Amino acid sequence: MFDFAPQPGTSGPDLYDDLVEAASALVAGESDGVANMANVAALIWQFVPELNWAGFYRMVDGELVLGPFIGKPACLRIALGSGVCGTAALSGETQCVADVHAFPGHIACDAASRSELVVPVKRQGVVIAVIDLDSPRQGRFGPADAAAIEALAHAIAASI
Ligand code: SME
Repeated sequence: MFDFAPQPGTSGPDLYDDLVEAASALVAGESDGVANMANVAALIWQFVPELNWAGFYRMVDGELVLGPFIGKPACLRIALGSGVCGTAALSGETQCVADVHAFPGHIACDAASRSELVVPVKRQGVVIAVIDLDSPRQGRFGPADAAAIEALAHAIAASI
């Protein structure tokens, strides 16, 4: 059993530091990328408040394919450049979208989503996956959330 619950009362940077530390510990020593992505998705869900979807899309043969996640069933494949995830994967840049309805081409997998944070996971500079967080609250994610999930992506990149 793993017990990586956030400390009661922890929030902001401390909570994200704990998340990255827990994720690093969980993926250490396991070589199966799917297993590691599944546990990291579960950790994100456990640590980060106000989410309705958290998980991975993997780069497979030039498109994004759904990976391990928590939330409602989602679209299976996303073309590069399409939606928030495809934009992050194509550009290699984090996408922090305060209002998904204002994002051209946003792909609505869950009607509850109001804001979204998508962070590319890179290995040797190449995007191998994206981490996608959706929130039912508009403006849920800011620069601190983006920087923290980028640190998480960096920490697990060799293990997924
Ligand atoms: N909204 C995403 C699609 C994936 S779901 O949010 C899980 C997008 O526009 O790429």
